Amino acid sequence: MMIYRCNDHAPEDVPESLEKTLQDLQLDYVDLYLIHWPVSMKKGSEGYKPENLTETNIPATWRAMEALYDSGKARAIGVSNFSSKKLGDLLAVARVPPAVNQVECHPVWQQPKLHEFCQSRGVHLSGYSPLGSPDAGTIKTQVLKNSILNTIAEKLGKSPAQVALRWGLQMGHSVLPKSTNEARIKENLDIFYWSIPEDLFAKLSGIEQERLVKGTVFVHETYGSYKTLDELWDGETSDA
Ligand code: A2P
Repeated sequence: MMIYRCNDHAPEDVPESLEKTLQDLQLDYVDLYLIHWPVSMKKGSEGYKPENLTETNIPATWRAMEALYDSGKARAIGVSNFSSKKLGDLLAVARVPPAVNQVECHPVWQQPKLHEFCQSRGVHLSGYSPLGSPDAGTIKTQVLKNSILNTIAEKLGKSPAQVALRWGLQMGHSVLPKSTNEARIKENLDIFYWSIPEDLFAKLSGIEQERLVKGTVFVHETYGSYKTLDELWDGETSDA
């Protein structure tokens, strides 16, 4: 579960936010609770308007997350959309280290630097948009149409989606594909009992890289903590 819309970052709002989620889900605890973005928006604000952005204080939010972990209402706590630097800064002050960093990750945005960093610090990398979210109107690049991915899929007799997901598993990530279609859900689950051979796997690292979920709405000259995309991602905006 995620803190909804980044507007419950104030330490006193964090437990209230989880309480609401637990009521909505009719549960006593969640397995994993994440900070959605390293971005803070005004309490109660609606929509991603620049004037809703406020200064972010991750250590303060994290202390409130740790209290939820202590209470047992969140069995594990983590973050999402954190760069290597932001994750490192958090690890330096965290009493309970984040279990997970959930980030955009797929063959077109492989994040090798973040992958290494997470691995070296024992933080599990979980990939969202593992198919490149073809349904998101804002995303122009079609991951599933990538020619290298398609050539490999053809060679293996698998679909491009299966190869994209299997790539994530072989990297040691978890993958979070979304589908509303029964046949595609089954297809997406059929990725455990075969593997991409080493030579073809290596070819996937030759795919041209592009961050598709850019976070442009969280960046503003006047409002919030980040004036540029470089500040939001700490330079991890290209093939780094
Ligand atoms: P649908 O729900 O019609 O299957 P992501 O998980 O990267 O956010 O991508 C989700 C999108 O990918 C949805 O639009 C979903 O459409 C589509 N999708 C899910 N599984 C597959 C698949 N195996 N092949 C093609 N498209 C897929």
